[in-house]
Amino acid sequence: MMKGIILAGGRGTRLYPMTKAVSKQLLPIYDKPLIYYPLSVLMLAGIREVLIISTPEDMPAFKKLLADGSQIGIQISYAVQTQPRGLADAFIIGEDFIGQDSVCLILGDNIFYGQNLTATLRSAMAQLSGATIFGYPVKDARAFGVVEFDSEYRVRSIEEKPSKPKSNYAVPGLYFYDNRVVEIAKSLQPSERGEIEITDVNNAYLRSGSLNVRLLGRGIAWLDTGTPEGMLKAAEFVEAVQSTQGFYMSCIEEIAYRRGFISADELSTLGKALESTDYGRYLITIAKESYS
Ligand code: DAU
Repeated sequence: MMKGIILAGGRGTRLYPMTKAVSKQLLPIYDKPLIYYPLSVLMLAGIREVLIISTPEDMPAFKKLLADGSQIGIQISYAVQTQPRGLADAFIIGEDFIGQDSVCLILGDNIFYGQNLTATLRSAMAQLSGATIFGYPVKDARAFGVVEFDSEYRVRSIEEKPSKPKSNYAVPGLYFYDNRVVEIAKSLQPSERGEIEITDVNNAYLRSGSLNVRLLGRGIAWLDTGTPEGMLKAAEFVEAVQSTQGFYMSCIEEIAYRRGFISADELSTLGKALESTDYGRYLITIAKESYS
């Protein structure tokens, strides 16, 4: 079984004053809170047990937004991270939640969308042991974990925020691990920036010969929300997709319905509670499709 963790803490200082009083992951990207986007990825992967990790101050707002998840047919639990100790801290905080299972970590500020995303997620989940991470081509990889390949395109290392990236393949904030990840995370020493790095987790798997890096193609969008400009562009992307296709992007209620986590009646009830909005009316329309 695979469990899911959304890491939605951090200080958000790079987006001040926007994030001074509100968690970054609760800010809107066009018509829905940012955290809907990573949550939808876990749901598309078929993961129904999710742990949300955030700060003590922000936790009540996440609970208000998503509650125990039963309204969308999943189980959401919550854990606090008191200090931003690093991404790998998710597996230490989440140890009891993970139990004996494998785990998918997604960063609360990462947006993925596109063709074959579900198939890509499913095939990463089918890998029973080791780690699966992704490589995504970007113009400037300096702000990310970066994959270094040898001359035969085998992965040689992952470097965190290199000043001279050895490829243009960044590692997005979506990672699949077997149960060993908990012990690996516990064994890490903080980096120069004082964090236990996910990149060090990945390099530990690489050294043991069990790191899988899958390159994502152009058909998948990985959107950056790290700057005000990135957030605006992401919002414009969502608006463009939705207004062109008529389908909503990363609508967790719709995904819950299409995945069979909730019934058409339950979807309709969720829609009616928001009937004065386009979002609510959309849910009602989708629920009606099933009756026709
Ligand atoms: O977005 C992908 C990148 O994410 C990867 O390519 C890098 O390898 C990885 O280190 C990470 O880089 P960032 O520097 O962008 O991560 P950042 O510190 O911004 O944290 C990402 C999210 O996780 C952010 O929404 C805040 C949250 N966070 C972060 C830390 C360090 C936590 O909840 N707790 C933490 O301790």
